Parts: sequence; C-alpha cells; structure tokens
Amino acid sequence: MKVVVTGANGLVGSAVVARLAGAHDVVAVSRGPARVRAAGAARYVSVDLDDAVAAEALVRSEAPAAVVHCAAMTDVDACERDAAAAYRMNHDATAAIARACAAVNARLVALSTDYVFDGEAGPYGEDDVPNPRGVYARTKRLGEEAALLLAPDCAVARIAVVYSGSRETKRTFALAAYDALCAGTEVRAFVDQSVTPTLADSAAEMAIALLASGYRGVLHCAGATEVTRVAFCHALCDLAGVSRALVVPVRLADVKLLAPRPLRSALTVDRARMLLGASGPLALSNALARFVAELQGASVSAS
Ligand SMILES: NC(=O)c1ccc[n+]([C@@H]2O[C@H](COP(=O)([O-])OP(=O)(O)OC[C@H]3O[C@@H](n4cnc5c(N)ncnc54)[C@H](OP(=O)(O)O)[C@@H]3O)[C@@H](O)[C@H]2O)c1
Repeated sequence: MKVVVTGANGLVGSAVVARLAGAHDVVAVSRGPARVRAAGAARYVSVDLDDAVAAEALVRSEAPAAVVHCAAMTDVDACERDAAAAYRMNHDATAAIARACAAVNARLVALSTDYVFDGEAGPYGEDDVPNPRGVYARTKRLGEEAALLLAPDCAVARIAVVYSGSRETKRTFALAAYDALCAGTEVRAFVDQSVTPTLADSAAEMAIALLASGYRGVLHCAGATEVTRVAFCHALCDLAGVSRALVVPVRLADVKLLAPRPLRSALTVDRARMLLGASGPLALSNALARFVAELQGASVSAS
C-alpha cells in the first residue's frame, strides 16, 4: 500500500514512518532535509505545506491509498503570535490534503488535539462538544472540520501531550523533565492540569490501526491514564530512581503563558480501546516502559 505521511521529521510522523517503512511504499513528507533516521529510510519529499496548492498537488500526484497527516504548527505560543501562519498550516493545508484525498480516493487519518476542548469539565469523550480557546486550538478544530467535511473516508485521531524517548525529534516536556531529574535538578510541574499524555510511538501505532480499521469520524487516541503533570513527573522520578521531592508543584494560573492551556482536557479512550484492541491506548505504566526502552535505544518493530 502506498501511504503519504506528513510531518515525517516530527514526533508522531517519524514514528508512523518507522512503523510503516519496509512493509509499505511510504512517502515521508516534511520541510527541509530529512532530519530523523526514519524519514530518511522512506522515500523522502520536502514540501512546504504552508503552500496549500503544493500540498494538494503532492497528494494528487502521488495518488496514495492513504494519507496520515501529522504535520501541523504545534507551538501553541507561536500560533498565538502568528494566527495567519497557524491558520494556513492547521486549516488550509489540512483542507487541501483532504480535497486531494477525495480526488484520488485516498483514506485520510488526520491528527488532532485535546486542545479542541476548553478544559473546564474534562475528561472528554468523542461526543462532547469542542470549545477551543486560543489560536492553535481554534485552527486545529477548523482543520478537523475541513478534514471530515472534504475527505469522504476520514478519521480524526485526537491525541494529547505527546512525549517520546527519541532524541532525534523535538524535545518534549517529559524528556526534558526526565533528564533534569536524572541530573538531580528540580522540575516545576502543574499540579492542577489534568491530561492524558500520549507516547508518540503509541499514537503512531493507533493511527496505523485506525487507518486499517475503516472507522470514520473522531476517535480519541490518547494515553489511557489521566494524570496531573505533577503525578506524571512523580512517575518519572520513580523511573529515574530519584526523590519525588525534586518535583515542585505550581499552579497554571501562577505562570504567565501566551496561549491558553486547558486545565482538565483529559480524553476518554474507551472507544479506541474497543476498536483498536491490542494496538489501542496504553496505560501510563506500559507507555513509560516503552519510553525508557526508547531512551536506551531499543528499536521499534515494524507492524
Ligand atoms: N506535540 C503534542 O504535544 C501534541 C498534542 C496533541 C496533538 N498533537 C497533534 O499531533 C500531530 C503531530 O504533532 P507532533 O507533536 O508530532 O508535531 P511536531 O513534532 O511539532 O512535528 C510537526 C511536523 O510538521 C511539519 N511541518 C510543520 N510546518 C510545516 C510546513 N509548513 N510544511 C511541511 N511540514 C511542516 C514539521 O516539519 P519540519 O520539522 O521538517 O519543519 C514537523 O515534521 C499534530 O497534528 C499536532 O497538532 C500534538
């Protein structure tokens, strides 16, 4: 099967490519040169998806059986500073890819976020009504709508607070916190923000299983365990064998941040658990075991 994977230099996209390459004809798409091993192992194409015409032309010319769309403008504060750029990337590029998928009869799996919810009353299921706050959240929600509206065979996979033990991709909160804790340095973490952190490789596994499932609509593909950031860091302390006293609790309201962050945006994953079975959401303990394996350089087997 020919699959186009966007965001191939990113946390989730690189994991999708790593899992598909070898077994499928993978076209790995990102900006600039291939910066991660996985992207280089597939047929790599550099395209600036900011250009919606180029985004649509790419998918039309490749005419794949499926697209896994992981590329996005993911820096929430940068989105706040440049709403036009966020709209182009998170809405226009997604709409262009969805239009092209419709034209070539490709199935589309588009990645999205827990930020589509305001975080006032989580955890949230797929049938809860989004109320995005901030530019990133609003443009991602518009991207969801465009994908579902324009691509007849489309699933939107919402994930949350992505982390990875890979040192090739963007440095996540989890990796930075783990490194700091191992060095005996204090880590500040929100005590009142409750989330469902998602291991990038697990998100990739779920996106691929979702692709194969034929499911259409929104599916929550986050980690299966809801935790506060402090509780997550306590689990990292236990892994690192250091005192939990290194974790300094802070309240979200006490930190000045540009983009609004939802307080309680955990996603319920019962539907994904039923649909995806063994490839479904991971409990935090299982995900952290994989995180450690990634840190130690253990390879992921293709599926
Ligand atoms: N990270 C999270 O905590 C999180 C949480 C919830 C949902 N999500 C969603 O999950 C998906 C994957 O996120 P991620 O964390 O894997 O993202 P990421 O690590 O930030 O990677 C984003 C990717 O998008 C590519 N990209 C950005 N702008 C582009 C452009 N103009 N043209 C071509 N490629 C472009 C980047 O390419 P280059 O690196 O080559 O520039 C990069 O490969 C996104 O839809 C995101 O909204 C992420």
